[in-house]
Parts: sequence; C-alpha cells; structure tokens
Amino acid sequence: MSVHILDAMAREGFESFVALHDRDSGLRAFLGIHDTTRGPAFGGVRRWEYRDERGALVDCLRLARAMTHKCALLDLPAGGAKVVVLDREGVDWEGAYRAIGRAVEAMGGRFYTGPDVGTGERELGWMSGETGFVTDPGPAGPGELANCTAEGVFQGMAAALSHLDGAPQWAERTVVIQGLGAVGWNLAERLIAQGARVIGSDVQVDRTDLAAARLGIETIRPGDELAVEADVLAPCAMGGILHDLTIERLRCRVVAGGANNVLAKPLHGDRLHEREILYVPDFVLNSGALIRGTIFHLEGRREPVVEVGERIGTTVASVLERAREAGEPPARTAVALADERIAAWRDPEGA
Ligand code: NAI
Repeated sequence: MSVHILDAMAREGFESFVALHDRDSGLRAFLGIHDTTRGPAFGGVRRWEYRDERGALVDCLRLARAMTHKCALLDLPAGGAKVVVLDREGVDWEGAYRAIGRAVEAMGGRFYTGPDVGTGERELGWMSGETGFVTDPGPAGPGELANCTAEGVFQGMAAALSHLDGAPQWAERTVVIQGLGAVGWNLAERLIAQGARVIGSDVQVDRTDLAAARLGIETIRPGDELAVEADVLAPCAMGGILHDLTIERLRCRVVAGGANNVLAKPLHGDRLHEREILYVPDFVLNSGALIRGTIFHLEGRREPVVEVGERIGTTVASVLERAREAGEPPARTAVALADERIAAWRDPEGA
C-alpha cells in the first residue's frame, strides 16, 4: 500500500518532511518536522530495521507528532520532530550520522536532535562533529537524561496511586518492572528506597542477576511479568506490549512505565479502561529527558532532576482528574488535551 505523503502531512498538520539519501555512506532516512509554532522542534534519531520504506515513513510521522503532544502537555516552548534511519547492511554508519548532522545543521536551529533507539553516545558524538543542534553526550551536554525519565515515571506513578487511593503508600506496593536498562534500573532504585516491593525482568540474564545482587529486587522470567499480581506494571523495555491477548492476562491496577507506545493501538487504552486498569499515558510519563533537553538547549540550564519529575507528576494528576470527570480512558484525554493546546498555538484567536 502506498502512502500519499502530502495528504498524510496535511491530515496530521506537518510542516516539512525530508527524505535523506547520502551517496557516500549509503544513508537512507526520513526527517519529519511536525510543529515549530511555539519554538524549535525536538526529536531523536531512531535507527531500526524497518520492513520497508513505508514502515519507516509511517513511524516517522507517528513519532514526530507524538513529540509535539509531549511538548503541548508539558507546556514546553517547543514542538515535535523525528529522524528515522533505515538500518541495513553495508552502510558506513559514521558517514551516515555525519550526513544527518549536516542536514540538521542546515536547518539552522529549527530542529534539535538527540538519542533514541539505535542512536547512542557514539552516534551522537559523530553528529556533534557536524552540528551544535544535537545532544552532546559528554559533560558539556544536558546529562542525566535516563535519570530524568526515571524520575518522571516515579513521580507520575506516585500521582496515579494517589489518584486511586489518596497517597502512594509505597511500603504496601508491589511494582513489576519489565526491562532493567537505564530507565528501569533507575526506577527500581527509587522504589526500593521508598520501601516498595519490586519484581523485575530483563531478556539479558546478567542484567537481572546484577539487579538482584545490587538492588535486592526479586526477578522473574521475561514474559511472565505481565501476569504477576501487582499494584503497578511498569513497562520499561519495548513498545506494543499491550494488545488483545496480553491485556487479558494482566493482574495489576495501574500500568505506568517509561517505554514508548506501550499500547499496540489506541483502542487498547479503551480495553484497559473497561478492565478498570488505570493506564497512565506513556508520552506524559516518559517526557523527563525531553524536559531536561529542551530547557538545556533553549535556556542554557540543567533543570534539577526532581523538578523535572514534579512537573510530570503534576501533569499526570491533572490528566487523570480530567479523565475521571469525563469518564473516559486517560490516553484519550491526554491526546485530546494536547490537540486542544496545539490548536490554540496555531490559532490563538480561535482558541
Ligand atoms: P535500555 O536499552 O537501556 O533498556 C531496555 C532494557 O529492556 C534492556 O536491558 C533490554 O535487555 C530490556 N528488554 C528488551 N526487551 C525486553 C523484554 N521483552 N522483556 C524484558 N526486558 C527487555 O533503554 P532505556 O533507555 O532504559 O529505555 C527504556 C524504554 O524507555 C525504551 O522503550 C525507550 O524508548 C523509552 N524511553 C527512554 C528514554 C530515556 O531517557 N532513556 C526517554 C523516553 C523513552
């Protein structure tokens, strides 16, 4: 099935969409800028083995728009963008990332980029050689990005538990964390410090062993975590894990984690709502790194980690309250609220 790119851009309100091809390195990528009404657009570089060009293009549109949603909900003076790179054999990756860096530089500050799946310190270092509009992974950069994300998930989780029971009551809670990487590990540390019972899983056995030894958490085989009886399930690994089959197995009251796009489709947020499981929208919870990054680039300061988390906790509380008043799934409320704000940016007179 083909995609009519201009129709898709018009439907989703995109500003520009660039196809990047570099003859020397073999780079093939898309760069989508969704919105710069309130300020420059922010979005990382995702490198993934897409099945085809269409898959990459659709992902770029979806991810860039989600970044604008995050900015709108967190009231950041910025908008959303994304670069997606088609991962394939035979590419000179240093050359490819340098070519992306030059494309970002040519935008003159309209777009800032940073890490995402497949793009880590090494790739950021290559891009930094070509542009200043990229997250510097070293001491000159914003720093502590995953820690900010974990703090946001922690404070957002606290807001969700308070929404249900009046207080987080950590000492009485069991939290299951799927994925003990940068975000999951930092989250586990916070929960343990508060006296919660933490059960963790990771596909890398050495990671779970290390977490058991260092943090004292219980561990479980990957795949089994969804069916554990718990207060909170915190997906901190991959997206798309909640769908018709897995939602039936859940035995938690709240889903609140750092992973992007936890719901396979938006309607799965409705399914969770029907099962009376409180789903805290991922794009609100995991915006800690974005908050730290935008403030660093636009105001030249490093927002303290706890304050980043507080901002997310307050936003989660207001989204959940609004969802309760409307009697609707929080994921729908969050998107509607973001869309309202974006419409108001674009047409202040009509708002
Ligand atoms: P990471 O790569 O450090 O950690 C992910 C961990 O999940 C790895 O240890 C991996 O082995 C494990 N894993 C993968 N598949 C799994 C499975 N099926 N079951 C159990 N464990 C599995 O990544 P990081 O930075 O911790 O990010 C986690 C999630 O949060 C990702 O979805 C990422 O896109 C999202 N995110 C991260 C941000 C950040 O600041 N690092 C910001 C916003 C979102």
